[in-house]
Order: sequence, then structure tokens, then C-alpha cells
Amino acid sequence: MKYDTDVLVIGSGIAGLYSAIKIAEFADVILVTKKDRAESNTNYAQGGIASVLAPEDSFEKHINDTIIAGAGLCNRNSVKILVEEGPDRIKELIDIGTKFTEKDGNLDLVREGGHSFSRIVHAKDLTGKEVERALINKANSLNNLQIIENTLAIDLITEHNTSNLKNMPLNNRHCWGAYVLDVTNNCVKKITSKITILATGGLGQVYLHTTNPSIATGDGYAMAYRAGAKVANMEFIQFHPTALYQNSNSMQNHSFLISEAVRGFGGILRNGVGEAFMQNYDSRRDLAPRDIVARAIDFEMKKRGEDFLFLDITHKKSSDIIEHFPNIYNRCLSEGLDITRELIPIVPAAHYACGGILVDEFARTSLSGLYATGEVAMTGVHGANRLASNSLLEALVFSNRAAEVIKNSINLVSGEIPHIPEWDDSGTLTPDEKVIITHNTKELKQFMSDYVGIVRSNLRLRAASRRIANLYVEIEEYYKKTKVFDSLIELRNLVTCSHLIVKSAMLRKESRGLHYSLDYQFSKEESIALDTIIQNKYQKS
Ligand code: FAD
Ligand code: SIN
Repeated sequence: MKYDTDVLVIGSGIAGLYSAIKIAEFADVILVTKKDRAESNTNYAQGGIASVLAPEDSFEKHINDTIIAGAGLCNRNSVKILVEEGPDRIKELIDIGTKFTEKDGNLDLVREGGHSFSRIVHAKDLTGKEVERALINKANSLNNLQIIENTLAIDLITEHNTSNLKNMPLNNRHCWGAYVLDVTNNCVKKITSKITILATGGLGQVYLHTTNPSIATGDGYAMAYRAGAKVANMEFIQFHPTALYQNSNSMQNHSFLISEAVRGFGGILRNGVGEAFMQNYDSRRDLAPRDIVARAIDFEMKKRGEDFLFLDITHKKSSDIIEHFPNIYNRCLSEGLDITRELIPIVPAAHYACGGILVDEFARTSLSGLYATGEVAMTGVHGANRLASNSLLEALVFSNRAAEVIKNSINLVSGEIPHIPEWDDSGTLTPDEKVIITHNTKELKQFMSDYVGIVRSNLRLRAASRRIANLYVEIEEYYKKTKVFDSLIELRNLVTCSHLIVKSAMLRKESRGLHYSLDYQFSKEESIALDTIIQNKYQKS
């Protein structure tokens, strides 16, 4: 097998596959992925992809909805790109073979929280699976795209890995590929490339309850950060309001999602005594942006000391519920719950990282030769809170842009690839204390959930920070003396991501979007306005 290539793509969700397919039109690509090729957050996406596809809708409306949800931190130019290039990317997905749900011969467009218009294309409630199927089908047919499964990227390669160039200043370095663990044969390989694309998805596994599958251990953020690339906005972790509540004996490593499209379809949130409560929090009620809904649920649960609340869809026609949400209906039925007749127990769960590796409008990171696309990237489109169904769209739009710019620039990557040594694990031992990994992973998830969840405070953040520092020291010591294995690499990355989340959260001295602190109950603008009111009153009295 060949281990040097023009472009190395890490990850096989929508961002990795779409980038690889586009780049394979003009260059050789190796795509590595840590499990089988379909396993990704993408594969679990339910609601759909937001885009302006109806004549009565407009780019301006989608731009405004995105910016309002983002609580003042979106980059308008990136949002404009996202929205205006969206429809062409959806058409490409259809051309590749994606079958979206249709109604009367047109795409069936539905609505979710924060959208002022029904603009979400979907494949019933299994949109991600259908998109992933179509992309994998296409990728499998391309000769110059080689997909290597069960291969976990450990670290990016730059000049700092060489013996003669290791002191090169950060801003002159280039990313030349990655060291990867062949999980099946338990050996480390180096893959060299002119260009590397991180498409490693999110970090939901930092938390105890998450909608993200086990692959979402934040590897990309951590690898990029260690290699010196800039990351930003890591404090903005989106909790999805409605994950299916399962009691703590459940062995699932991730929570099953009850799509926001269920609320778009008329679902109503109810508290433990059956009251619909969202009107007490926002005029948009159950369809307010996610940060507001998740916080309202958290508040209601704490008020009555409840472990979960309810989502009610029983007032809708049974046949319509089953027709629109066959996956959710069947999954709940398998747990003994008939959602056409019974309330669905729900609880918020970590869902999406709005921040990430800082990129420009062509997915270029601050490290030469390194691109980032999909959830791992921070393009500026989500600000402090992502609008529902904008994530798959972002992955498509910015992966396409990465491919365009790589096409025009790959031949400019100058000079020879420097001599990169093989992975050196001499002096390390075969692991015999895996309990350290399982225990520390549990501990990390527990305190991140308790201290760095939906509601935060300075005290909780400081407590988390101290625990992260301890874990970091322990894990690094273990890492240095042990032959690497998958859960060790992942825990090391989870600890680094937790550090980045807490560090960013401590720097933000306000409450905004998904970052809500008891010590700063207002945004900076609101605090200034409040100060002015208080001072005026004081001066007049
Ligand atoms: P992913 O799809 O997560 O793919 C990451 C890939 O990288 C995987 O193949 C993984 O195995 C691989 N990988 C990770 N680390 C490594 C490593 N170290 N080495 C090698 N490979 C690695 N968004 C929407 O817009 N609409 C929706 O309806 C929607 N529904 C969702 C429902 C659920 C349950 C979840 C969890 C998310 C949902 N989202 C939705 C969010 C959206 O699915 C994700 O943000 C998006 O799929 C991310 O795509 P991605 O390609 O960046 O990452
Ligand atoms: C959902 O279906 O509720 C998830 C949509 C999203 O995360 O954008």
C-alpha cells in the first residue's frame, strides 16, 4: 500500500468524503478514518440540511435567522457564503445520488427552531444515513481515492518532527501529513502529503450525555492545537434540547436524538406536571433557538428536581407521525414507548461544537498545508449558537471551497517533503494498566458535565480547570511510557479539548449564546445598557 499522496483527508463524514470526492477530480487522495467508513456524526443526522430552495424564501431571511441564532458573533461574510452557495451544493448531492424526501414532485421542506421559513431538505428522519450512503457510493467508485479504515490519526507531521528543522519558527512550518495508528495490526505508520485536511468531526464525548457516537473524541482539535494551529470559540458547546432520556443503567455510549423536526412538526415541550412552559421563556416558544430551549429545560428540571421533561406529539395524527419520523417511532417503540400515544421523556445532551480550528473562507487554517472542514472547523458561521441544520450545509459549502483553492494551489507547494522519521516508540512498554484510561475517562466526563455544562460559573470553571491539569499530567506521563492504543490517544485528546473549552469559557466575561455563566448573567452590551440605566437613575435621585 502507498503511504504518500498529494492530499491526505482525515475523516469520512460529510466533510471528509465530500472534500475527497471533489479533490480526486485533479489529485491523488488518501482518506483515513478511525472505524468503518460510515461511522461518523453525519451518519446519525436526522433533521436535514437548511437551504434556500423555495421561491418564497430568500437568502436574506436565511442569513438573518443564522445571525440571530448566533447571538451577535457570526461572521456575516461567512454566513453569506454559506447561504448563497448552499443551493448548488444540495443540487450536487442530489446529482451524486442522494434521495431526499419529496412531496407532490418537489423537495419536502420542513422547519426547525430559529428558522423563519420551512427550508430544511431531509430524507425522512434519517438524512445523515442517506447522505453518507450516497457519498460513500461515489467515493468507492473513484480510482485515485483510497479509503483506509480502522486507522486513527495520532498527530500531524510538521518540521518539528524532523531532526534538522525542528526549531523552525511556527509561522514557517508546513503540515506534511500525519502519524496514524493501524488499529487492526496495532502499528503506527506515517502518511506524507502535500496537503492535509482535518475532517474529524466533533467532541461530544467530552460529556457524559451526548448525541455524538463514540468517534467524536475531538481528535482534530487536539492534533491541530498541538501542531500550533489556532483554535477559537471553544466555549460554545451546543446542547440539543431533546435527547431521549434513558435511565443511568443504559449501556449506550451515546443518547438517541429526538429531532428538532418533531417540534417543527408541532411537538410541545412539557414539564413534569404536564404544563407547556416555553411561552414563559421566549415568544418563539418551542421553536426558539437551541441555546434558549436547552436552558429553559435545564431551569425547569432544576426548579422541580426532575431528571427529565417531556416532548408531546400525541395530538398529531398517528399515521402522519409514523410517516414523517419512522426511525424515531421505531426506536422509541423498541424501548417500549409508543410516541403516538405517550409523552417522550427527554433531556438535553451535548450535541455540537460551534468553535474549532480557525479557518478562512477557503477552509485554510493558520498552519500552512493544513485545512479543516466540517464540525472541527471554525468558519464563523455559527457564532455563539448554531442554527439547526446549518452544520451539514457548512460542511458541504466549505469543503467545496477547500477543493477549489487546493486545485489552484497544490502545485505551488514548493520543494521536497523534508525527511520525516518513522514513529519512534523505543523504550515504551505494552500497556498493562488500562484501568487508568477507563477511570480517567469517566472522571473527565463527569466533571465536565457537572461544571462546564449548560450553566456555568467562575467557581465551577476553576474547579474543572484544576482537575484537567491533574489529568493532563497523569495522561501525558502514561502516554510517554506506553505503546499507543486507541483509547489512550482519544483520552489524551478529550483532555486537551476540555482544557480548550474551559480556557475559552474563562476568557469570556459575559453570558452569550451557548455560554451562560451565573457570574455574568448578561451579554456585554446588556451589561453596559444596564449600567447606564442604573447610573442615570442614581444621578437623577
Ligand atoms: P463527522 O460526520 O463526525 O465525521 C468525522 C469523521 O472523522 C468520522 O469518520 C470519524 O471516524 C473520523 N475521525 C475522527 N477522529 C479521527 C482520527 N483521529 N483519525 C481518523 N479518523 C477520525 N446537523 C445538521 O446540519 N442537520 C441535522 O439534521 C443534524 N442532525 C444531527 C443528529 C445527531 C444525532 C448528531 C450527533 C449530529 C447532528 N447534526 C446535524 C450535526 C452534524 O451531523 C455534524 O456536525 C456533521 O455530520 C459533522 O460532519 P463532519 O464530516 O465534520 O464530521
Ligand atoms: C435535529 O434533527 O434536531 C438535529 C439538527 C441539527 O443538529 O442541526
